[in-house]
Amino acid sequence: MTEEVETPVVEIPVVEIQVDGETVAARPGELLIDACERNGTYIPRFCHHTRMKPVGMCRMCLVEVDTGRGPALQPSCMLECTPGMSVDTESDRTRKAQDGVLEFLLVNHPLDCPVCDKGGECPLQDQTMAFGPGESRFVEEKRHFEKPIPVNSNVHLDRERCILCDRCTRFAGEVAGDQLIHFMDRGGQTQVNTFPEQPFSSYFSGNTVQVCPVGALTAAPYRFKARPWDLEEVESTSTLDSVGSRIAVQSSRDRVLRFQGVDADAVNWGWLSDKERFVFEAYDHEDRLASPMLRGDALGNRTPDGPSLVAAPWSEALGVAASALAAAPAARIAVLGGARMTNESQYAWAKLAKGVLGTDHVDAQLGDGLPAEVVLGLPRATIDRACTPGGVIVLLGPDPKEELGALYLRLRHAVVHDGATLIELTPRRTGLSAHAAHSLRVTPGDAAGVVAAMFGSGSPAGVAGIPVDQLAAAGATLAAAVAEGSPVTVLLGRPSLAESAGPVVDGALALHDHLPTATFLSLLRRGNVHGAMDMGLAPGLLPGRASLADAGRVADVWPTVPAATGHDALGILTAAAAGEIDVLVLLGADLLADVPDRQLAEQALAGARTVVAVDLFGTDTVARADVVLPAVASTELDGTFTNLEGRVSVVARKVTSPGTSRPDWAIAVELAERLGADLGFMSVDDVLAELAAVSPLHADLTPETLAGATREGILIEGSTEVARPAPTSVPGRDGYGLRLVVDRCMYDAGVLVAHSASLAGLAPGTRAGVEPTDLARHGIDEGEVVDLISARGTIQVVVAADAGVARGTVHLRANQPDLAVNALIDASAPVTEVRVGRR
Ligand code: SF4
Ligand code: SF4
Ligand code: FES
Repeated sequence: MTEEVETPVVEIPVVEIQVDGETVAARPGELLIDACERNGTYIPRFCHHTRMKPVGMCRMCLVEVDTGRGPALQPSCMLECTPGMSVDTESDRTRKAQDGVLEFLLVNHPLDCPVCDKGGECPLQDQTMAFGPGESRFVEEKRHFEKPIPVNSNVHLDRERCILCDRCTRFAGEVAGDQLIHFMDRGGQTQVNTFPEQPFSSYFSGNTVQVCPVGALTAAPYRFKARPWDLEEVESTSTLDSVGSRIAVQSSRDRVLRFQGVDADAVNWGWLSDKERFVFEAYDHEDRLASPMLRGDALGNRTPDGPSLVAAPWSEALGVAASALAAAPAARIAVLGGARMTNESQYAWAKLAKGVLGTDHVDAQLGDGLPAEVVLGLPRATIDRACTPGGVIVLLGPDPKEELGALYLRLRHAVVHDGATLIELTPRRTGLSAHAAHSLRVTPGDAAGVVAAMFGSGSPAGVAGIPVDQLAAAGATLAAAVAEGSPVTVLLGRPSLAESAGPVVDGALALHDHLPTATFLSLLRRGNVHGAMDMGLAPGLLPGRASLADAGRVADVWPTVPAATGHDALGILTAAAAGEIDVLVLLGADLLADVPDRQLAEQALAGARTVVAVDLFGTDTVARADVVLPAVASTELDGTFTNLEGRVSVVARKVTSPGTSRPDWAIAVELAERLGADLGFMSVDDVLAELAAVSPLHADLTPETLAGATREGILIEGSTEVARPAPTSVPGRDGYGLRLVVDRCMYDAGVLVAHSASLAGLAPGTRAGVEPTDLARHGIDEGEVVDLISARGTIQVVVAADAGVARGTVHLRANQPDLAVNALIDASAPVTEVRVGRR
């Protein structure tokens, strides 16, 4: 007989308060305004925002409160609930106070509603109707300002509409850490503004538009485009980066006009980077591929100056692609990319590549990530776990501010406001360095040595440049955290594209060995790259984080499964360059821009006999393809997305795709048909059902469960065994050169940024950042144009002194306009050394 185990009941303490005569339960420490709202009583407000500290600026939330000393008007956004508190939100005094606040706010407020972008969704307009005076007693001239003024290229400010609620200024300082907008002047002239000559250059400026309760701040891409009542909306997921921020996609007349952040507690808290917010413009760009294209002559006769691509019907383009695939042996077919796609499209392409064509030369990463078996093997963290108050965060990866904006805001909040301790092991100062307890500058190739030295093993000789006391102090912080049982999370990604994955993996495994209870949060940035790994778009993997050895799982529905692990991205490119790949399929893969080694990418494109590109835009890479198949963007199809935690959330279709472009999964189905195979999918739901059937991890994913978890998504948990690739041997430094660090920044020459009017001009370009003592050692002057010479190539670049880079290194930004930094990198080498040549 089994003994029944009683589930312990966790008592959640409550504070009982009276709201308009009803007893309601508040949480200890909860603000009165929030407790009332949670229990169904809305108190009007302007300055209060649940994700920012209360300031009591506007007084709109005054209500009559009795805490035992008699009723008095108090701002409910500044008052924590206490037992026995009695609140009257509808008393005459409350009404009169709200009426008075509105009358004062409107004293200087223009009557702009008919032409104001906020009209129709404006709390001031709504609350004036609901709580305000019937008419104004103010007959004097109102104040006037020049309008609108741009606070940066994407955000405009109509100062006379501002009600001085402090939301935008608080967001800039408290959340983003970019205190570039302030209140200025006094009295009736008080205004929000930037400092002279200093625009609001923040990656997160669009959030101020969203939090502004009136039409004072407006986004340039949306101004005068639509009225709120014209807009239709679906909730979806941002596929721009791997955070998977929740967004509302708003459209009018079948065009997306706005992305708004949605407050998903586990993910983005409503915040978006400007790149996530404004990237919808690219999806709507006239340069989108709208029809298939074929190179103008017979395939196999490709020369750089050969015939150009010409539009072709789908039947013909698919036929040519299918013929090339049918004629090629499985070992000579490769599929690269796919991180742009939904989980369902990735599954369909994994099934086509591995289950129909039989090739395992499949990789959604482009040589700029980390091995899938390492990412999936290390114990996984959630964003919430990484941001646990009082926890420890170790950053062994790129700057989250530059690559994963919404995650950066969560991390910053944890470190600045919630007492999390940050230890950075990065080659360069990051957006979080100012708040780090320990910020160690790690030279490419040195990560494992630094970790060993932090824990008192290994030789400090391997970590030259980092003072021993700094290493010991960081190690002591980690040891103390472990002793106290504080959660430790490692943020893991590629700190530099000029350092191969090997040394970073070695560093991560060393951290795993020294901190066995630590969990890891992947910083791989590219869209749905984690979904791609889960769906099997990685060498050696099948859907559900399974290995090829688990082929039995798919045996009923996949015609075949590759017998041996195939090449990863660099292996595929190397094989293609050597003429060993007959058909190279590119799924949204812009090799020339994204592969760290440009020469290899060029040679691969030239060496593959047939290149099939499935893409949204005619990139430089697509221009070299033989068959081009236009795909739909994430606002144009339904599906799901897996973020860097493994959280699956819904991607929702809102508008019609251009021309004859098709969903990626449907393209896979059609190609399979022409190859004599039936993938078995008529809809996205069919794909989801098969995924749930073959992957125990995804067994609970159904349209119904997803619909029930629209906001927070469904976390797919489960790690595989920790893979342990052989340690990478890093050559010693030659003493004359500098070790190259190449990282990405928020705005680059990437195809989506380039096609978003609001973002296109924001790529900052790059200079060669060199530590000042290195500048002196090499006798280089700041601002000098030098040659940077690697074994691969030479570029000319301006030098800048940068105290934030590790000594003995030179820093460049990747993929900036007019400078192919990836021409310097040999991806087969663990690190890239460069020498400086005077001109
Ligand atoms: Fe009208 Fe609101 Fe715009 Fe003011 S901010 S003009 S109240 S819509
Ligand atoms: Fe508030 Fe908007 Fe004025 Fe900023 S601009 S203080 S958010 S009303
Ligand atoms: Fe309470 Fe503004 S919402 S003072």
